[in-house]
Amino acid sequence: MPSKSVLFKIRRQSSPNDKPHWEEFEVPWHPGMNVISSMMEIARNPVTRDGKPTTPITYESNCLEEVCGSCAMLINGKARMACSALVDKLEQPIRLEPLSKFPIIRDLTVDRSVLFENLKRVKAWVPVDGTYDLGPGPRLTMQDQEEAYPLSRCISCCCCMEACPQFDEATGFVGAATISQVRLFNAHPTGQVLKRERLSALMGDGGIQECGYAQNCVEVCPKDIPLTASIAEVGGEVMKQALGDLFRK
Ligand code: SF4
Ligand code: SF4
Ligand code: FES
Repeated sequence: MPSKSVLFKIRRQSSPNDKPHWEEFEVPWHPGMNVISSMMEIARNPVTRDGKPTTPITYESNCLEEVCGSCAMLINGKARMACSALVDKLEQPIRLEPLSKFPIIRDLTVDRSVLFENLKRVKAWVPVDGTYDLGPGPRLTMQDQEEAYPLSRCISCCCCMEACPQFDEATGFVGAATISQVRLFNAHPTGQVLKRERLSALMGDGGIQECGYAQNCVEVCPKDIPLTASIAEVGGEVMKQALGDLFRK
């Protein structure tokens, strides 16, 4: 073993029905190393701390610069991105676990498709598909762009959902990321055409009223998205639409 090393404790599970267990690894220290580079090191030499050969850890990653959103996991109990988690800033042994609120696939890989289903539910897109040229869209003012940009930085990592006390199977809550995307697309001059449908999709079970405003989501978001401001704004719009519908009946 090199003079300086980093200790990892990793929760392993070879399949969804397998019983989870922990394995420890000692990885040579390098300046500036992060959790993903440590996993690559383990993959090059998959041997546990006590010398037992094992399989490389299964995890997701792609961009390695906190842009793709794939490497979210629990690091020392906190939902965050593994590619930007610097080893030198973490207490050891560094404990790695899969996100706990999503179906496990293997080791640190989980199925986060619920977020994509939720985004479909609220039609989180600008409808521009057609069989003919629709021409250029409306111009956005600089102020509109500045308001939209922070919301557009979502990387679909699901950390906000993992940290949210209301996000579970019982509530079916869509979660903060989806609500914030409703705010983004409802503010877009072309996206606005679906505004009513988006707000309707946030009414009822699993909708915005499930939010208890605990604010965990905004604290863990790696892209500093103003999630609670989005929840407040979209909540007001949902309420306004619901009341309008009630009086129209
Ligand atoms: S404010 Fe709290 S309850 Fe609402 S989405 Fe964020 S973490 Fe969940
Ligand atoms: S809102 Fe933030 S925490 Fe939630 S999915 Fe998007 S980037 Fe991740
Ligand atoms: S690998 Fe893309 S966000 Fe971490």
